[in-house]
Amino acid sequence: MNASSAHARTTAAGSPAWLRGAVGYEVYVKSFSDTSGDGIGDIAGVTSRLDYVKWLGIDVVWLTPFFVSPGLDHGYDIASYCEIDPQHGDLDAVDALIARAHQLGIRVVFDLVANHTSVAHRWFETALADPLSPERDYYLFRDPSPDGGPPNNWLSHFGGPAWTLDESSGQYWCHLFLPEQPDLNWRNPAVRAEFDAILRFWFERGVDGFRVDVAHALTKHPQLPDNPQIREIAPDAGPMSAFASFDHVHDLDQDSNAEIFERWHDIAASYGACLIAESGVSDPARLARYVAPGKLDLAFALKPARMTWQPAELLTEMLALAEAEPDRLSWVTSNHDQDRVVSRFGDGPQGRQRALAVSTLMFSLGGVPFLYQGEELGLSNGQVDPDDRQDPIATRNGIATGRDLARTPMPWNPDINNGFSIGQPWLRSAQRPQGLTVAGQHENPRTPLHRYRRLISLRRHYPELWQAPHSIVSSGRDDVAVVQRGRTLTVANLSPEPFAINLGDRRWRVVFASQGADGDAARGVVNIAAETSAVLVLDE
Ligand code: NOJ
Repeated sequence: MNASSAHARTTAAGSPAWLRGAVGYEVYVKSFSDTSGDGIGDIAGVTSRLDYVKWLGIDVVWLTPFFVSPGLDHGYDIASYCEIDPQHGDLDAVDALIARAHQLGIRVVFDLVANHTSVAHRWFETALADPLSPERDYYLFRDPSPDGGPPNNWLSHFGGPAWTLDESSGQYWCHLFLPEQPDLNWRNPAVRAEFDAILRFWFERGVDGFRVDVAHALTKHPQLPDNPQIREIAPDAGPMSAFASFDHVHDLDQDSNAEIFERWHDIAASYGACLIAESGVSDPARLARYVAPGKLDLAFALKPARMTWQPAELLTEMLALAEAEPDRLSWVTSNHDQDRVVSRFGDGPQGRQRALAVSTLMFSLGGVPFLYQGEELGLSNGQVDPDDRQDPIATRNGIATGRDLARTPMPWNPDINNGFSIGQPWLRSAQRPQGLTVAGQHENPRTPLHRYRRLISLRRHYPELWQAPHSIVSSGRDDVAVVQRGRTLTVANLSPEPFAINLGDRRWRVVFASQGADGDAARGVVNIAAETSAVLVLDE
């Protein structure tokens, strides 16, 4: 894609036209497909599976980081942004991936980890070695507080204070994640220039966009004041609960982030590329700031991907988000940081049924839904022995479970290691049964794989599902949502009993049901089964 022709293909908000109506798929590279036999997923493995991704009907693939990294946060601690970690491949492999994806009509989105680097990045090594170097100001080094402790009360998401002492200089560095992930100083123009160059490097190579890791954390309050504490921290509180005991008014969601987004938007737009925010912000009005015109193109709506089965709360959340931002959210029920949706919703057939019912509604809400690898198989969490934990949130805090359960290898077939690798996978987990593998579901049209594939195809067959303005029709119940868009009507009955809807005299067709048969004609009063969503289209 070249820069000069890109403008013609943007929407009024300046986003690439190809993004509208698309369906995305998150590939957790480390656990997707390993061609080298070392037990670690690689770029060539992703390329080798692109035909499957195409068959599924996916338009955009987002790959988690595969750049040079010590791997303490599994690639989210980057030591070199334009070099590939040899365990995942090399630049030629990346070029081949992009070329094959584009041949298949699939767009490729990488992960931009800009809040922090690894301590092994040359910038940080220089900053530590020479406090007078320009690189020192790439990071947030500060003197201790008067009592000699950390400069303020900020905590790390991953446990403990957000500050680690550099003994040789007596200053602390700030890190909202691991100590080995020092936060960058986004008020420094040199940092901004470095990342402009990183974006251009990858856009020149043909990548179609970036998912922006922790987009809400980039800039901090210039004086780095204490955050107000909103509740006591229980002695046995885990890191997430301790972090949530503060009102993050000074470290997260600063208005000044917008300057960075605008700058990146101009670069991305000149290549026809997109930017998708990972934002921890859940308030719909605040989230909308990330995707205002000229900022980022989409923002993940992450709250539904964390919720357990609470139908009324889930629907209230989703509908409020859709009202605030009808076209610029990325809907997800799962990702590599959360328990898989099937497990959060009750596991087994019931968890699967509920997950598909919620996804059916998400696919009718505009924006860009993303599936997380294996979601299309109806996977529940993997099983990992506590001794085999790899997630630093778990290992560094002595927590039995962590994000590992969502990160176990993709089950391709019933062979050794489910066809992920011939070597011992980096994350040991229980083998999945044949029925939960791609091969085991491929030939059976009644499996989750085929149901998700059909759901994905609906957006192509009925573009009104994402194009037409939506209106939320009152259902009289807070656990049932009815959304009308053009000639389509989506009924999400998340209640535990059948829901009767009066369709009047006109004839409709059920083009998708999260359980039960599709294709039935419908008119008058129709019952939608408990915990089931249906998409209907006017048939006249
Ligand atoms: C969000 C990523 O999804 C997560 O995996 C990572 O640990 C943090 N950001 C820190 O980069």
